[in-house]
Amino acid sequence: MHSIHIAPGLSKQLPALLDRAGVPARRFIVSNPTVWRFHGESFPGLTAEEPILIPDGERHKHLQTVSRIYDALIRARADRASAIVAIGGGVVGDTAGFAAATYLRGVPVVQVPTTLLAQVDSAIGGKVGVNHALGKNLIGAFHQPALVAIDTSLLATLPRREFRAGLYEVIKYGVIDSRGLFDRVGGSLKALFSRDEAALLPVIKESCDIKTRVVETDEREHGLRRILNFGHTAGHALEAVTKYKRFLHGEAVAYGMLVAAELGVARGLMPAADRDAIATVIAKMGPLPAIADIPVPEVLEAIGHDKKVIQGRLHYVLPKAIGACEVVTDVTKDELAAALAAIGAAS
Ligand SMILES: NC(=O)c1ccc[n+]([C@@H]2O[C@H](COP(=O)([O-])OP(=O)(O)OC[C@H]3O[C@@H](n4cnc5c(N)ncnc54)[C@H](O)[C@@H]3O)[C@@H](O)[C@H]2O)c1
Ligand SMILES: [Zn+2]
Repeated sequence: MHSIHIAPGLSKQLPALLDRAGVPARRFIVSNPTVWRFHGESFPGLTAEEPILIPDGERHKHLQTVSRIYDALIRARADRASAIVAIGGGVVGDTAGFAAATYLRGVPVVQVPTTLLAQVDSAIGGKVGVNHALGKNLIGAFHQPALVAIDTSLLATLPRREFRAGLYEVIKYGVIDSRGLFDRVGGSLKALFSRDEAALLPVIKESCDIKTRVVETDEREHGLRRILNFGHTAGHALEAVTKYKRFLHGEAVAYGMLVAAELGVARGLMPAADRDAIATVIAKMGPLPAIADIPVPEVLEAIGHDKKVIQGRLHYVLPKAIGACEVVTDVTKDELAAALAAIGAAS
């Protein structure tokens, strides 16, 4: 797969990095005004082209925004020998990546993720796309980036809540694959939150390694890639029933991991001590939006609509221990209801 480069201050070396990787010389930056205001100066000499700025926010991750990117590219006469450099969080990466996948039937994209979530998750793996009025991420493609450049210094300006949301995905990697990563995060929360490079770098690196390894084995999500959905079944349902307004995605995933941990313990699959360790680290990370007013039946209903229902069977990723998981297809509504009640939803 594409190479992933990770280093503090990497942005300054981006032109040389892209040259060496053979990325076409006409480069079009796609970013948003928030990111560009903070970090526009961090990319000297990357391109002579005007940056294409798209509006900030998940609600702009739709086809009209992609269309605006096409407009700018066509007006600038971007041709096959052009590349798109997506500089931003997951919204910019997914939207610009989809534009790159489809413009002239595909031009290279370079992902320069600027949120923790994008650095450990969305910039890696080649999934790009946008939302549709009737559902999230329904329009998309697989378009592997020519290169992923992760500059950990860019995280210095990320709001604490956004940072935390990304860190829940790191916890996810720990639970599904690496006790070492899980313990490292739990043991260095303070340093991580203060964006200490020495703490951040290995955590981001190991997260990227896990995602890369899983995706390489299963690029098109037939089997193994599903374990990356750990915490996402109940997580997505919580996001949906609150109309995507209450939770940042990672926060909903944090609850989703707690649900999966309850299911694991209830089935005798995982020791209760491991569930407690997961709950403890999540609690230590900071407050999550309330769920006490969210009725269990509504969440169950939303889970029934999940993309992970395949031929009527819900594929559920359950932890066996911190660092190991398995996918099961026989989780019942009653089990789910009990797990949701156990984590504090309204029963
Ligand atoms: N393609 C995939 O495999 C994949 C995986 C996971 C998530 N996603 C997608 O990613 C999106 C979420 O990404 P996100 O969490 O990065 O959200 P986001 O892109 O909306 O970024 C969050 C906020 O942080 C701001 N921001 C970004 N970088 C900053 C910085 N360095 N300093 C200060 N502010 C900064 C953004 O402008 C935005 O306001 C969702 O649309 C989700 O569907 C995709
Ligand atoms: Zn996620």
